[in-house]
Amino acid sequence: MAWEGVIKTYFDYLPVSEKTPIITLKEGNTPLVPADRLARHINKGLKIFLKYEGLNPTGSFKDRGMTMAISKAIEEGSCAVMCASTGNTSASAAAYSARSGLKCFVLIPHKSIALGKLSQALIHGADVLAVQGNFDDTLKVVRYITSNYPVTLVNSINPNRIEGQKTGAFEIVDVLGKAPDYHAIPVGNAGNITAYWKGYREYHEAGKISSLPRMIGFQAAGSAPIVLGKVVEDPKTIATAIKIGNPASWESAEAAARDSGGMIQMVTDEEIIEAYKILAQTEGVFVEPASAASVAGVIKYAKESYFDDSKGKTVVCVLTGHGLKDPDRAIQTVGNPEVIENDPMKVVERLGLKK
Ligand code: F0G
Repeated sequence: MAWEGVIKTYFDYLPVSEKTPIITLKEGNTPLVPADRLARHINKGLKIFLKYEGLNPTGSFKDRGMTMAISKAIEEGSCAVMCASTGNTSASAAAYSARSGLKCFVLIPHKSIALGKLSQALIHGADVLAVQGNFDDTLKVVRYITSNYPVTLVNSINPNRIEGQKTGAFEIVDVLGKAPDYHAIPVGNAGNITAYWKGYREYHEAGKISSLPRMIGFQAAGSAPIVLGKVVEDPKTIATAIKIGNPASWESAEAAARDSGGMIQMVTDEEIIEAYKILAQTEGVFVEPASAASVAGVIKYAKESYFDDSKGKTVVCVLTGHGLKDPDRAIQTVGNPEVIENDPMKVVERLGLKK
């Protein structure tokens, strides 16, 4: 049967009714890819799977939440939506708004979002403004406007976003036939870890799973407010998607880690880039840097003996966004191609080929 998107597939678990107009790009149903070479690299006998969310329609997990947020905004009679974004939320909001006919206002931190994401928000016809401030400043402006003007907020503070995003957990369980032992995930504004934990708990309450995963979240070291226990005024990291100093869902992220027996930790930009290259070059999976934080965290904590008693256990790493979102970073990481003369023998010589 053709996939119908997350709302129709998980209708009974979502706050929707027959009256809800469903705006969908058939998001979800993303592959759970086994990562055997990564598991061998880590060398702790773990079974590792990659939930490749970059394969959603706009290239990130945001589409799961956006199909809900936009459908509910229309049901509630809204005419316009607005978000602050490090890029992916705005790409998704712009696309789903275009599809539904809603007006979309996007506020992004000036010069801080990856090129692919910016191009998406613009081409989908959103009204895009680059605010002279960081993401946290931008979100404050959006909160003010959406509280005082007739515009619906579609950041993950909107509970419909979390509802949609929890379907990622349902899909993992539906494929594995059980909950993983560990669920590794990047943490930025902290909505997604909140959403996955909600999804797992709801499947547990529904009797679909008998155990729950340990939620292990990873922030970038230069923007790790939850790990440090204080707001970071000037967050820094090459993983621009998670360059956030004051996450909106801070408390629920901490609760997810605590209640599941997991943790929230941080990884350096160097560790993120190492994982980014390992994924691309040994698994064939291209993600944006923020997404590699989940894998970087697993590699790092494996070295610190976190998984020493976990032989045979299952780890799911959520890869939140596609690598093409941030092409500049890929080129900066590995360099531009060498230029060569238009001559077959020169190419043969350069490649070191023998007959
Ligand atoms: N990975 C990617 C690729 C993201 O775009 C984000 C968040 C995260 C991870 C972190 O998820 O915020 O739920 O903890 N991006 C938001 C945006 C902030 O505006 O696109 P989170």
